[in-house]
Amino acid sequence: MEVNTEVIKKIDLYKEPLKILARFENKGYTGMSDFELAFLCGAIKAFRPKKIVEVGVAAGGTTAVILNCLKSIGCICEIYSVDVCEQCYLDISKKTGFIAEEMLKEELIDTVKHEFVLGNTIAAALDRIGGDIDFVILDTMHSLPGELLDFISLYHSLDKKAVVIFHDIGQSQLGIGNINGAPFEYASLVTLATTMGEEFILPDHSRIAGLSNIGGMRLNKEILCSIDNLFLGLFINWNYIPDIRHLEEYRQRIKKEYDEQYYQMFEQAIECNMFSLYRRQGLEIPLKTVKDEFENVLKKAEKIYIYGAGKIGREVEKYIRNCFDGKKIRGHIISDKKMNTCDDVIELSEIENMDCSVIILGLHEKYHLEVLNSLYQKGLSKYVFPYNGIGFRELMKVIEYENRFYGKFELYENVYGYEQSIREGYRY
Ligand SMILES: C[S@@+](CC[C@H](N)C(=O)[O-])C[C@H]1O[C@@H](n2cnc3c(N)ncnc32)[C@H](O)[C@@H]1O
Repeated sequence: MEVNTEVIKKIDLYKEPLKILARFENKGYTGMSDFELAFLCGAIKAFRPKKIVEVGVAAGGTTAVILNCLKSIGCICEIYSVDVCEQCYLDISKKTGFIAEEMLKEELIDTVKHEFVLGNTIAAALDRIGGDIDFVILDTMHSLPGELLDFISLYHSLDKKAVVIFHDIGQSQLGIGNINGAPFEYASLVTLATTMGEEFILPDHSRIAGLSNIGGMRLNKEILCSIDNLFLGLFINWNYIPDIRHLEEYRQRIKKEYDEQYYQMFEQAIECNMFSLYRRQGLEIPLKTVKDEFENVLKKAEKIYIYGAGKIGREVEKYIRNCFDGKKIRGHIISDKKMNTCDDVIELSEIENMDCSVIILGLHEKYHLEVLNSLYQKGLSKYVFPYNGIGFRELMKVIEYENRFYGKFELYENVYGYEQSIREGYRY
């Protein structure tokens, strides 16, 4: 990319290409404001890239503007538009990028080679796209891990002076489209802030405090390294866990392109974020999944321990005795024997060999962190069910439901209501 180094500080808004949107319904459903589109076009005009990757396409209104911009400046380049959804999430009867497709049917842009790569994350799409990417537009999930993981996946395929445009950098402050704000939508901002290079952001006077929702960065891989920062950024609270297939795509890419220590950081970040997201109740595990896993674990284990000897621990025991094999139960673990003198109680410090065992969490969530940390210290965490306590609330629902109904499913009754207390009364 031939760029005058002075250009970086003076990106000018370039509005001309936005005119294409008037041709389509609802302004091409573009997710960017006129200011943001003009900023994006200004950057394209200034840097004249040769290989562009757009991650997050939706209807493709922004793609149409980019294509029109490339046409109007006579830029010779290839451009890939990547999205995890093959159908547009705004209207699933239409293909992702349908606006840009409509445009390309009418417009011949012979200097530009455009391709949609749909149905996978950028981590997998890069196998098709290849390297030497010199311009990226990131606009995917907005909350972590979102754009950060996409950028980590892209990093080694970028030209050493690539330009990256981050959309939604003001979203966590502005909460556009959300009455009560969108405090966790800081993925683009975190990615921009942790990446080393020259930033370029223009004030947007149409927004509160002039806060812009789009910003750019030109990397300087030769002298500045971002990798440690990017991986540390993965420990800032996530707002969702990518689905298994997508996680696997990121895993493959990170394993292939980064040292083992970074791969381990990634795995650690997944584990921590599952734990913290579950604890603040943003994560729900399907009841059936938890129930199936629990049954599986109970079947496989030769020895069953229940952590906790209070009301919850006894309910867990009752469930196992009623629905499985009570003979496998070896006792209730507690942290301090002085607290409970029942015969079936074992102190954690007495426990050694746990092979072929499972430790079921049978105590209130407020004690989980302390208990899990003690089990980690003793190298016993891998025996815990649910692992790291993720799925505990759902497990309690399963147990509560079965214990009350003695294994019968009476789905149309109010489990918590007046009828239930009468039923419990006459069953005793
Ligand atoms: C906000 S929309 C993009 C809007 C578009 N850039 C525009 O300006 O009109 C976000 C898009 O990102 C896609 N997406 C979400 N996560 C993704 C990921 N990790 N990789 C690729 N696409 C993703 C969604 O399917 C959705 O179409």
